[in-house]
Amino acid sequence: MNDLDLAKKIKNKFVQLFNESPSMFRSPGRINLIGEHTDYNMGYVLPASIDKILYLAISPRKDLQCKIFAYDMDDFFECSLDEIKKSNKHWPNFLLGVVEQFKIAGNKFNGFNCVFGGNIPIGAGLSSSAALEAGLGFALNQIFNLNIDSLSLVKMAQRAENEFVGVNCGIMDQYINIFGKTGNVLRLDCRSLEREYFPFDFRNVSIVLIDTKVSHSLAHSEYNQRRKECSKGVQIIKERYPEVENLRDVSINMLNEFQPKLKNSIYKRCKYVIEENERLLEACDALTKKDLKSFGALMNRTHEGLSKDYEVSCKELDFLVDILKDNPKVYGSRMMGGGFGGCTINLIEKDAVKKISEEVQDKYKKKFGVEAKVYETQISDGTNLMEVGDEAG
Ligand code: GLA
Repeated sequence: MNDLDLAKKIKNKFVQLFNESPSMFRSPGRINLIGEHTDYNMGYVLPASIDKILYLAISPRKDLQCKIFAYDMDDFFECSLDEIKKSNKHWPNFLLGVVEQFKIAGNKFNGFNCVFGGNIPIGAGLSSSAALEAGLGFALNQIFNLNIDSLSLVKMAQRAENEFVGVNCGIMDQYINIFGKTGNVLRLDCRSLEREYFPFDFRNVSIVLIDTKVSHSLAHSEYNQRRKECSKGVQIIKERYPEVENLRDVSINMLNEFQPKLKNSIYKRCKYVIEENERLLEACDALTKKDLKSFGALMNRTHEGLSKDYEVSCKELDFLVDILKDNPKVYGSRMMGGGFGGCTINLIEKDAVKKISEEVQDKYKKKFGVEAKVYETQISDGTNLMEVGDEAG
């Protein structure tokens, strides 16, 4: 099914359920080329929004009811704006968290009707949750003419995830969802929130995601744990260097001074983050010089760090990276996102993608008995309003 067909299906379902015409929004998933677990350490990230999309059909209501249909799950949820509380269905929480943030910020708005669905695989580390959060925030802002600026939308979506869903994520996913731009990766300084776009236009190279199909169930608890470990490192370093606020402020030499004082696991977490920030800056230089070989080599090193020092990989991710990282047709290969499952991101020469994908799937099946899924992906725009015709799809 092509994307417009999918959007039409969502729209048609909306018309069927609510008997009125909705506004339609598209909200993308994301990749991250390099800069993993650096956002909440106030470092740099290099994500892009992609052509895996969540569609939202939505219209304002006159009363306070929120009526929401999850198309892919065939599930309905309803509540009043007066009574926003955590649902044990889980999926509504990504939306309710945003509604709550809109209320906290003092916005005046009514209830709404909404149908959402799309093709961002869930649990694959492509940020389907941020697509829901930031996508709904963007849509509510439009349909109720609230005039909220884009950065505030990003922050509200992030807080929805932190405070309502309970994952203490950084700002990367929600930010790129709103600020993504076709053909470009975005370097975000997570401290100043300054952004710079870098064209990623290598005609002969594809961005290929390989999904382990391991759903990252450890991710929430281990993710929050990593954050705590980084803070612990900062706390100890701060005793001698009071100006240090985040790992962003720590050099490797400084960290090494503390090695004897730090628990080995804390030392390794901090070392990874410091090195990853350096790698990202080098990677952007390589990108400016169109030097994809150096860029890819840095991605490979990121994987090493994530696997051995940050310890957020798993055997399936390591296996996929191991079989590709020395292939001459592959520039770079690494696990992507929070970790413990989800996808690897690979830069592969276009003419070799088919053969390599088949080989990898074959080996993965033999090893783990599971069909790894392969997505050749394109960089697309961040969340926006879209036109979807009325004809049946
Ligand atoms: C998840 C979080 C992000 C970021 C990545 C790791 O995707 O939502 O904020 O921390 O993990 O880089």
